[in-house]
Amino acid sequence: MIDTHCHILKQYYHNIDEIISKMGNNIMIVSGTNDQDNQEVLELCHKYPNVYGTLGIHPTELDSNNLEFIENNLNDKKIVGIGEIGLDYHWNNDKEKQKEMFIKQLDLALKYNKPVVIHSRDATNDTYEILKQYPRLNKDIHCYSGSLEMAKNFIKINCRLGIGGVITFKNSKLKDVIKEIDLNYLMLETDSPFLTPEPYRGKTNEPYNIIYVAKKIAEVKNISLEEVLEQTTLNAVEQFKLDFRSDK
Ligand code: NI
Repeated sequence: MIDTHCHILKQYYHNIDEIISKMGNNIMIVSGTNDQDNQEVLELCHKYPNVYGTLGIHPTELDSNNLEFIENNLNDKKIVGIGEIGLDYHWNNDKEKQKEMFIKQLDLALKYNKPVVIHSRDATNDTYEILKQYPRLNKDIHCYSGSLEMAKNFIKINCRLGIGGVITFKNSKLKDVIKEIDLNYLMLETDSPFLTPEPYRGKTNEPYNIIYVAKKIAEVKNISLEEVLEQTTLNAVEQFKLDFRSDK
């Protein structure tokens, strides 16, 4: 199985070795959000065979601006995309500045033909309108929790949906949405240390918990856990063009 989006960083964990070894041969894609994270993501990728990374500047981290570092490391075999990038009108209302940084990073992804990991909060329409301009890019709408209609719109413009702990929450409407979406468009993620799935909601999240997300998807779609794990793994491999022969 592959956790397609998490933040296994020193600021959140004192036991990174333990968390990563618990994953065994399973893979994690750690996303950067600012200049400091991006450096740390690169180091983690080089230290652990089962860790891959994406580099990016998050819309709430616009004090960071080192796109040169991102560009210079995009040819690293363990860096599999740009993210997490996007728009966040909940925490930060400088919409124009956010859009500018988002577009710069999408252009960079296009230049190097790299997948992107998208954060969108209270900004669905603007995110969609911008992403529509990049049909060729493989796009992961991380932590998707919107409507069925919007999910279908995103899929039409070459997006997959990252599904995390929210689907396990008791009153989550995401279950009804995911029931209707073809498994080929779904990927598992934790967004660790955030959004811990049931039955551990409230505790610090970790990549191994994607198993609970997978179980919930299997239950909702009335298919086997094995099918969910197998197909979402294939999806993630294709999405991020993972090449295991080039592991360092
Ligand atoms: Ni995240």
